[in-house]
Amino acid sequence: MEGYILDWANLLLRWVHVITAIAWIGSSFYFVWLDNSLTRPQAPDLQEKGVDGELWAVHGGGFYNPQKYLTAPKSLPENLHWFYWESYSTWMTGFGLLVVLYLFNASTYLIDRSVFDMSPGAAVGFAISYLIIGWVVYDAICRVFGKSDRTVGIMVAIYVAVAAYLACHIFSGRAAFLLTGAMIATIMSGNVLVWIIPGQRKVVAALKAGQPVDPIHGKRGKQRSVHNTYFTLPVLFAMLSNHYSMTYAHKYNWAVLILIMLAGVLIRQFFILKHKGKINVAWPAAGVALLGVVAVMIAPQPRQQVASNNGGADAANAVSFVKVQEIINTRCVQCHAEAPKMMPTAAKGIKLDTVDEIKAHAQLIYQQAVQQKAMPLGNVTQITDDERALLGQWFEGGAKTAN
Ligand code: HEC
Repeated sequence: MEGYILDWANLLLRWVHVITAIAWIGSSFYFVWLDNSLTRPQAPDLQEKGVDGELWAVHGGGFYNPQKYLTAPKSLPENLHWFYWESYSTWMTGFGLLVVLYLFNASTYLIDRSVFDMSPGAAVGFAISYLIIGWVVYDAICRVFGKSDRTVGIMVAIYVAVAAYLACHIFSGRAAFLLTGAMIATIMSGNVLVWIIPGQRKVVAALKAGQPVDPIHGKRGKQRSVHNTYFTLPVLFAMLSNHYSMTYAHKYNWAVLILIMLAGVLIRQFFILKHKGKINVAWPAAGVALLGVVAVMIAPQPRQQVASNNGGADAANAVSFVKVQEIINTRCVQCHAEAPKMMPTAAKGIKLDTVDEIKAHAQLIYQQAVQQKAMPLGNVTQITDDERALLGQWFEGGAKTAN
């Protein structure tokens, strides 16, 4: 029953998380596009009003004419729209999901003992610290080097790469990718909560009091929001990565994560320049080339034969199904069975407790347990390399279930 309730919590949190993330990233993309597409108005009355940029757009049957005032309009309108709930609710639902999925199941999801051996309590502590320290260090970098957009940008990029490397050496690959995404997403929400919105509040308060507006709030908010823009594609990859064990289960998964995130930044750069009317396909071409390099780098390798099995030479045709079933019974059914011991229901609906089921999933077993070594999850059931090799030989020999 408890597992069933957790599944519902998972479903509802994930649903809301995706909805709010669409609202947040959608409005963020829209404002980046808007800001970069504005042109200086020619009409004297607009210039007189303090309009610094405007544009015309047609959408959904109506014409729109947004105008940007620098630093602010002479008098504030009654009804001013703010954008922050999208960001906060995305963070809160995301954190909720992290708790339900990863922190409640630390020993299966966070820990891979071949990466770093730690207790579940320590893993939860590390995961939460990773998010908190992630923000504190980023914020310190911006405070210290914030005067130069370029310096701070380079420092932040290096910092994220180091954080990704560390995560991949502490947590299971799957959790490391997700936590790196969560860390960057925490930085993004932190930027909104700690700098962008308070800065805007100060500007509004100054305007209401009839005092001069300090332009530092606008500049600082802009710098943080530019960082957020470059973070979006890397975060989205990290959030989706847990469906692709070929990326996170690779030996050099930290390099895979860094390169794919970098590809996201290069592709985003193309769109940012395009909004300003500069089309330069070198950016997305470089991004796609990087993805190509990663694809080649992580392509499945031919498997090495294991000498200890049956003398080696005639091993390929000598794997008995009894042995295969034995391995699956000791290493997989804990999570893949009608009534598994370590999961509320069969993980991903895959049951491996009957001969027919094993046969039906032979290809997937080969992919997950032999080629990518993504299964058993975090290798909690401690499968050996010899056992993986045996499963491989069985599959390559035709996945027979008769002998
Ligand atoms: C500790 C629990 C656990 C153990 C042990 C385990 N698995 Fe899994 N397995 C999972 C979970 C959880 C998923 C779903 C992962 C996801 O959502 O992407 C999964 C998914 C799979 C998938 C589907 C992958 C896909 O993306 O379609 C296969 C195939 C699989 N496991 C095979 C195995 C094999 C073979 C073994 C034993 C060698 C094994 N698993 C051991 C938990 C486990």
